[in-house]
Amino acid sequence: MIVAIDGPAGSGKGTVASILSKKLNLVNIDTGATYRCVALKALRNNLNIEDKEEIIKLSNNIDIKFDLNNNVYLDGEDVTKEIRSKEVTSIVSPISSIVEVRKNMVDLQRRLGNSNNVVMEGRDITTVVFPNADYKFYLDATLEERAKRRFKEYQEKHIDMSYDEIYENIKARDYNDSHKEVGSLMKTNEQVYIDSTNLTIDEVVEEFIKIIEGDKNES
Ligand code: DC
Repeated sequence: MIVAIDGPAGSGKGTVASILSKKLNLVNIDTGATYRCVALKALRNNLNIEDKEEIIKLSNNIDIKFDLNNNVYLDGEDVTKEIRSKEVTSIVSPISSIVEVRKNMVDLQRRLGNSNNVVMEGRDITTVVFPNADYKFYLDATLEERAKRRFKEYQEKHIDMSYDEIYENIKARDYNDSHKEVGSLMKTNEQVYIDSTNLTIDEVVEEFIKIIEGDKNES
C-alpha cells in the first residue's frame, strides 16, 4: 500500500505522515530528507551550489537510508538533526531543482516504496514518484500559519531562526518548489485536498483516516 502526500513546507505533512505510519503500520518516508542529505553532503564537501556538475556527481554516489524511527543516515552516519539546520534549509530548494539530482532521488524513493507499505510525503509524490499510489493527498495551510508552526517547532528544537527569517525562507521555497522544471508541487484533481490552517493535528489525521478507512469499508 502506498499513501502519497504532497504539500508545501510547514503544511504538517511530516507530522501527519509520522502519526499515520504508526496507526496504519506503514514505513514513513520523508522524501525531503533525501534532498536535504544531498545538500548536507554538498556543504560538507565545500561545493559551490552553482556547480551543478559536482552536485550531480555527488548525488550519483550517495548512500541514504531510513530506519523505522524516522532517523536518516547519510553514508552510514545519523544526520537526522543536521539535515534540518539553517545552512541546509537555505540551499536545499535550488539543489532539489537540479533535474539529474531529482532523477537519482526519485529512483531511490521508488525503490523504498516498492519494497515496503509506505506513507511517503514530499512535493511530487502524487504526480511523479507514485502517480498510481493507492491514496493521494494534497495537504495545505496558509503561509502565515505554516511560518508560525515552523517557528514554534524550531524554538522547541532550539534552532535559532526568527519568525521573519522563517516566513521569508518558506515564501522563497514555495516559489521555488512550484516553479521547477521537473517535479513541481502541483494541485491536481486526483488528490484529496485538505486545508489544515484551522485544524488541529488530530483533526487532520482523522480526515486522512476517514478517507483511507472509508475506502476500505466500501470495497
Ligand atoms: O519537505 P522538506 O522541507 O524537508 O523538503 C526539502 C526541500 O526538498 C524542499 O525545498 C523541496 C524539496 N523537495 C522536493 O523538491 N521534492 C520532494 N519530493 C520533497 C522535497
